[in-house]
Amino acid sequence: MTLEISDADAIIRRANDQRVILKPDSRPERIRLTFEAPMSSDNAKIHPLFAVPDAAESEARSAEAAPTSVCPHCFGTGMEVVPGKGARRCRCRTENQAKKLFEAARIPRRYAECSLQNYYPAQGNGSQLRAFNYAFRLVREYPAVDRGLLFMGPVGVGKTHLAVAIIRGLIEKGVPCLFYDFGTLLKEIQDSYNPVSQTSELRILAPVYQAEVLVLDELGASKPTDWVRDTMMQVIGTRYNERKLTIITTNYMDARRNPVEETLEDRIGVRLRSRLYEMCKTVVIEGEDYRRRFDVQQ
Ligand SMILES: Nc1ncnc2c1ncn2[C@@H]1O[C@H](COP(=O)(O)OP(=O)(O)O)[C@@H](O)[C@H]1O
Ligand SMILES: [Mg+2]
Ligand SMILES: [Zn+2]
Repeated sequence: MTLEISDADAIIRRANDQRVILKPDSRPERIRLTFEAPMSSDNAKIHPLFAVPDAAESEARSAEAAPTSVCPHCFGTGMEVVPGKGARRCRCRTENQAKKLFEAARIPRRYAECSLQNYYPAQGNGSQLRAFNYAFRLVREYPAVDRGLLFMGPVGVGKTHLAVAIIRGLIEKGVPCLFYDFGTLLKEIQDSYNPVSQTSELRILAPVYQAEVLVLDELGASKPTDWVRDTMMQVIGTRYNERKLTIITTNYMDARRNPVEETLEDRIGVRLRSRLYEMCKTVVIEGEDYRRRFDVQQ
């Protein structure tokens, strides 16, 4: 039986003792009801009523809930309105972009969480506070920055942490960055070397040359053979010529503190050290090995 009814109370009354299927009509004020004869076991039960939304509306709702839904801030246009101010790139685009840039930066998992916010200069350690300030300023002022940073100091003082924190800060500004441990890079270049053509594959080198901002971690750690020196010079020299920003960390110092200690210059050669003075502001970090704290805590 089908009848048309516009009184909501009447619908509920009928629903209490009848099985009801509700279908909206083309006229919203009228609802077409189909009543079926109750089954014996249903007699005592109360059947709730559900209004079934029309097709277009229900599709819109399920799209909202799905993870690949149209962005509620920009409705897929990529621009979101900031009330009273204007429009800007939508947060959905910047969040996705930051995620992609982060993956492309190849930051080692151990350092994935490093940021400026969770770098704590040790109390009374001026060098760590200074290093933090340099990192912070670089991120804030980029791209109006003409020199990178060379973090220099003993192990565990947070050099790599700060270098990664800079990458994170720049990525949040939409700047593509690349992280490479220098030893790993040299190994990859060596592995791709073709003795016939006497060249290394550009597959490895091109991204290193082209990265807008490059972190080279642990400069000088590899045994300085002629090939290593030439390759370091080629990588850093190419970036120097292209005026690209490079951030470097090293465990080697400029000053020799005892006769057996090697300096950075011993490890990378006079020419490269000299080039680095131009490319990077040297920032010495001193202090205790941060990793020892984990020992104390146990
Ligand atoms: N000032 C600091 N605040 C927070 N974490 C730090 C700090 N210094 C070092 N760490 C942490 O200690 C560990 C070693 O630091 P790392 O950056 O690898 O030292 P380095 O590169 O100088 O050898 C990392 O897990 C790093 O996140
Ligand atoms: Mg390090
Ligand atoms: Zn959006």
